[in-house]
Amino acid sequence: MPVVVVVGMQWGDEGKGKIIDLFAENVDVVARYQGGHNAGHTICFDEKEFVLHLIPSGIFHKDKLCVIGNGVVVDLRALADEMRQLEEIDIDLEGRLVISDRANIIMPYHGVSDQGREKGDGKFQKIGTTGRGIGPSYADKIARVGIRTCDLRDEKYLHSRLEANYEEKSQVLKSLYGQQLPEFDGLFDDLMGFREVILKYLADTHVLMRDLIAQNKKILCEGAQGTMLDVDHGTYPFVTSSNSTAGGACTGLGIPPTKIDRVLGVVKAYTTRVGEGPFPTELFDEDGEQLGTVGHEVGATTGRQRRCGWFDAVIARYAIALSGVDALILTKIDVLDGFKTIKICTGYKHGGKVFQDMPADPEVLKHCEPVYTEHEGWLQTTAGVRDFDKLPEKAKNFIKHLSDLLETPFLIVSTGPDREDTIQLGPLFPDS
Ligand code: GDP
Ligand code: IMO
Ligand code: MG
Repeated sequence: MPVVVVVGMQWGDEGKGKIIDLFAENVDVVARYQGGHNAGHTICFDEKEFVLHLIPSGIFHKDKLCVIGNGVVVDLRALADEMRQLEEIDIDLEGRLVISDRANIIMPYHGVSDQGREKGDGKFQKIGTTGRGIGPSYADKIARVGIRTCDLRDEKYLHSRLEANYEEKSQVLKSLYGQQLPEFDGLFDDLMGFREVILKYLADTHVLMRDLIAQNKKILCEGAQGTMLDVDHGTYPFVTSSNSTAGGACTGLGIPPTKIDRVLGVVKAYTTRVGEGPFPTELFDEDGEQLGTVGHEVGATTGRQRRCGWFDAVIARYAIALSGVDALILTKIDVLDGFKTIKICTGYKHGGKVFQDMPADPEVLKHCEPVYTEHEGWLQTTAGVRDFDKLPEKAKNFIKHLSDLLETPFLIVSTGPDREDTIQLGPLFPDS
């Protein structure tokens, strides 16, 4: 059972970074399959905290291979900065980091377009993006005008690719956003300047993954964002621009679906969301404030306050079905320690009906009223508990209740940000 995909079950920030870092000790390879530096994956150990945006969350385990797949959109400056920061703390990257030569590059004009659309002057739909150029860069990829990492190898071809974009981008930026695109030569020189840092890490990662799978290596595929941000299945248009569900691992790494052995879903014990868009269980009261304060719910990438609400079993069930989740990882249960009553949404009420499936229409979702079941809080600390038997009975009941409701077992319960604050209930690779 060597290929495992880890997926976010909600609107991102479920604690994927912590879990992938934890699992990385027992695998050979960690491979990121989609998204870009909109992601912020936090890893805590030895009383230190690191936030990774592009580099896979296995990088702190010195002998592991880390792959950035073709499905990732790469901002070369952000990547070079992150690589430098890791090297400064003595994390060796050469021979351990491999970047797909088919990945699309986020160009400076993508960031300008993203921010221009997001200004909220009424002309465009505001999504509440990270402003990192993710949407415009995936749009160029699909429109077949993107510049890819392999283009960096060939100066003449790279020049022609930038030329093919320059006029159009220059006009769009000027007329729609009142922005001036930098001179062609400057943009081109910047791209060329990254060759020294990036070229030696480029490879055909499909071939690499194919060979690693043939050698029976243990591979963890790292998802970014979460199911409800998936461009096809999420709360469109308030989503990101890639497939964050498990299928994204196949297209984003060049792995056939028949080679994926296991899918694990990371789910927070409550729900958060950053940016705009419907969020049925969102709280605007003291409970919401308590979740945000105790859970330190501040975006790891943009520093924005995360919106908070109760656990939503409708979206969790949807996420489990979409990705074929075999087992769940429950994070941040400790954040519920101080609640007398904990609520779980089991269905949505709309137009006199209660339904359990996610509606496609944003206007319907916006007006859905959550139907809650209540759970008695344990009012004791679970923070840092590492043994299931040491959890308060009511916390154990809460976990069992969730597992029954979702018809899926929990593999891990996380009780704090640190690697060690973890209750493991089963093996990562059951057959090995
Ligand atoms: P990711 O994007 O899914 O990797 O999640 P983020 O790193 O953006 O956000 C998760 C936050 O919760 C980070 O600050 C983690 O350090 C923290 N965290 C992860 N697991 C736990 C947990 O079980 N309890 C608490 N209190 N914090 C956690
Ligand atoms: P990780 O991997 C939470 C959200 C943005 C915005 C929407 C679109 O850390 O879980 P984008 O910049 O992608 O075009 O923004 O998606 N978003 C995230 N929210 N966690 C993330 O990543 C996110 N990446 C994007 O806030 O609502
Ligand atoms: Mg995050």
